This record gives sequence, C-alpha cells and structure tokens, in this order.
Amino acid sequence: MQNPNIIQKSKMTENQQKKIYIKSYGCQMNEYDSRRILDLMAVEGYEQTQNPEMADLLVLNTCHIREKAAEKVYSDVGRYKLQKQGNAILAIVGCTAQAEGAEMMRRAPAIDMVIGPQNYHNLPKLVKQKHNGQKRQVDTEFPAEYKFDYLPEQTHQQGVSAFLAVQEGCDKFCTFCVVPFTRGAEYSRPAADILREAKGLINKGVREISLLGQNVNAWHGVGLDGKDWNLARLINALSELDNLWRIRYTTSHPLEMDDDLIACHRDNDKLQPWLHLPIQSGSNKILKAMNRRHTRDDYLRIIEKLRHARPDIALSSDFIVGFPGEDNLDFADTLNIIRQVVYASSFSFKYSPRPGTPAADMPQLDEHIKDERLAMVQELLNSQQQSFNHSMMGRNMAVLFERIAPKAHHHTATEMQWVGRSPYMQPVHIMHDGDLTGKILNLEIKNIQGHSLYGY
Ligand code: SAH
Ligand code: SF4
Ligand code: F3S
Repeated sequence: MQNPNIIQKSKMTENQQKKIYIKSYGCQMNEYDSRRILDLMAVEGYEQTQNPEMADLLVLNTCHIREKAAEKVYSDVGRYKLQKQGNAILAIVGCTAQAEGAEMMRRAPAIDMVIGPQNYHNLPKLVKQKHNGQKRQVDTEFPAEYKFDYLPEQTHQQGVSAFLAVQEGCDKFCTFCVVPFTRGAEYSRPAADILREAKGLINKGVREISLLGQNVNAWHGVGLDGKDWNLARLINALSELDNLWRIRYTTSHPLEMDDDLIACHRDNDKLQPWLHLPIQSGSNKILKAMNRRHTRDDYLRIIEKLRHARPDIALSSDFIVGFPGEDNLDFADTLNIIRQVVYASSFSFKYSPRPGTPAADMPQLDEHIKDERLAMVQELLNSQQQSFNHSMMGRNMAVLFERIAPKAHHHTATEMQWVGRSPYMQPVHIMHDGDLTGKILNLEIKNIQGHSLYGY
C-alpha cells in the first residue's frame, strides 16, 4: 500500500509548482526561442501549461513580419488579459515587442513587461523584479552580451526533429522587411557552442537537426580550430556526430549560396536534398526596388549549379506579390520564373507595408490587384506542389519516422500507423508493428492522398 503521506506531499509540490503558458507566432526561430524560454524558466521552477488560465506567467512570443501578424498579437493581448488570473504576469517577447514595445505598453495596460528577441535571457530577472513590486518594464535595447551565453541546456526538445539556431539577425535590409530592425545585426554562434547543443539534442533522441538563421547561409563563426568557418564547414563537422541522420538549414539568401555549400549538397549524405531559397519576385526591376542585390539570372545560375551538384534537390521559395511598382509585366516575370525553376512547395504573400521600412513610403498598389495576383501565383505553386508529390509514386525513399499517427482509426489490432518525413519534408505513413521512433526505413511509395504519401 502506498504511504498516504507521500501522496500528500507530491500533491503539495504539484500545487506549488509555478506554471508558464507560452504562445508562439511567426517563424521557426520564434518556435525555437519559445523552447529556450521554457528551458530558462524551468530552472526557475516553472512548468509548462497549455491552459492560460492556470498560468502564473503568460508569454506571447510575437511576430511582426506582416500587418496581420502584428494585429493578431494585439487582439490576443486583449483575450489573454481576460484569462490572466490574479497576480499572473503577462510578458510580450519577440519581434513585435522589439518593434513596438513602448506603444504596446501604452495600448495595453495589462502587459507587465516587453522583452526583445535578443534580451529574453533577462526574463527570470524581470519576473522577479515584478514580483518585488517593480514597475512595468520595456527591455528592448540590443544588449552587449549574447543571450546564448546565458541560456541553460535545451530540455524542452521533444521528438526526433529539432531546430538549432546558429545565426541570428540580418544586415541585408530588403526594403519590405522588418527583420533587420527586430532581430538586429547578423551574429553567428561559435561552432563549439553549436556542436555542444547538437550533442545534447542527439542524446535526447533527436535524429534530424534543422539549423536556423534569418540568413543561415551567411553563418561565419569561429571554428573548432579557432579559424573562421563557413556553413559548409559547420555542416560537415555536424555530420560527423554519431546518431544524427539528417541535417537541414533554413532560411538562405541567394547572395550567400557559395560554392562550398553547393559542394556540400553533392558530397554530404546527411545534408538533405531540399533547399528553401527565397527569390521573392521574378522581375529584375522589382528585385532592385526590393534591394535584394541579385538578378533573376543570378538566381537561375545558382539553381543550375545546385541541380548539377545534386540532381534530386527539391526547391522551395517565398514570393511577395503586389510590391510597390509591380506592373503586369513584372508579375508575369514572377509567374514565368516559377515555371522555369519548378518548385516542390513555396510560400506566397501579398506585400504588406511595414512601418519604418522604405517600401512602405512608396506608392502602393490596390488591394484587389494584390488579391488577384496572389490567387494566380498560389494556383501555379499548388499545381507544382501536387505534381511534385505525385512524382513520388512508385519511388523508393528513406523515411525518418517520428511518431504514431495521431488519427487512431487507421490502427489495427497488431499494427499501428506511423508517420515520418521524406527527405523532401513530405509526411509519409506506414503500418508497422514495432517502435519506429527515430528510425529510417526505405519505403516504396504506393499511394498519395493530399499532401501525404503512403508506403509499404
Ligand atoms: N530571410 C528571412 C525571411 C524572413 S521573412 C528568413 O529567415 O526567413 C519570411 C518571408 O516573409 C520573406 O521571405 C518574405 O517573402 C515575406 N515577407 C517579409 N516581409 C514582408 C512584407 N512586408 N510583406 C509581405 N511579405 C513579407
Ligand atoms: Fe528580411 Fe531580406 Fe533580411 Fe530576409 S534577407 S530577413 S527578407 S531583410
Ligand atoms: Fe516574424 Fe520575427 Fe520571425 S518578424 S517571421 S518572428 S524573425
């Protein structure tokens, strides 16, 4: 029989355990940061809850990339204000925090603190100060120290595939983009730190690592030999780690796609044949107005080299339609570069003017033109994605399995349906009677439904 005193005691600690609720908006870097914030607060005794009403600390990790993203943050602040209990603290972190911290504080008195993406290592300190009666604070000055030096080891990673931030910030200043203002100047973490973090992840069962950065292929960090390394060198060093099967990196800028990295796609088996390389527009005039600093031909040359190095590489891109000054011919250039390259999948957006960026002051296009162009570009991209998926039929491919498929009705008495990823990021399902977590199987694709592939 269990000792009732022990049960009593464990119930008490459970009740006393402080709870953190965190919501992430925007890109993978924010998802990664949210995990690091959970690690940071775990050291302070905070456990994650999925229920904002249970939380002692609510953290909204915000995105500022388009107007809609920022609006969502403001409407959610209103909602969480109502759900926040008693002394619970509401902290706004991330890119909107960096861009509009003071303004957010003014508009929403329920916000207790605003912290920029480079300062979140200060969260425990600010939370303590708030508990000690300190006033509301805005912490968005870019700090002299690097937050990575202050973060505890990753403990909140679950699953087989993990993100690892290697580079942050952007010095490119595309005229539409807020990222250089919200994430600050480019910074590359030293290789030793990255390898240490990667080993920790692998020990927790991670088998695939996606290296993250706003300009990840601009990574130039201190190497293990004390010399300056480039991303290809870093990937080659990572690929020597045991029990790591797959490496990816995102997001890349065409200007930084150097020959070493292209050769890495040819020579390194662990580097997956998949690349997200945004071009944004197919028109040289618009690329110039965007300050992308490359032409459509420069981009096509890179694609050619990549395909020469790794013929099965699949490509993806981001597109912005309705950028100021984009006429029918410019837009036609975007459609025809898509036809020329042929993408496996892509993201496309209507241009959204962002305060403080040069393009916001240029004469704007009508909304209905943007809507029309977005629909056209999406139709073309969707059809390319479908043909790409259908080209997998009958092919053999290596699938890295992650977990049992959440929809249980496919399971039988002896076999469960497992889901994993193809080298091209597609979800692949299979029926199997053993544990496939973290394993790679070579499968033949026998069926395709929507975006999912089925193998035997
Ligand atoms: N290099 C970055 C890009 C971040 S933003 C990275 O690491 O991902 C992601 C995409 O959002 C961009 O590639 C661009 O297509 C889109 N985007 C950025 N600013 C935008 C704006 N003002 N309006 C519409 N789309 C935008
Ligand atoms: Fe933004 Fe351009 Fe920098 Fe990408 S490269 S983060 S689009 S400014
Ligand atoms: Fe958004 Fe910031 Fe990422 S603006 S897309 S969260 S870098």
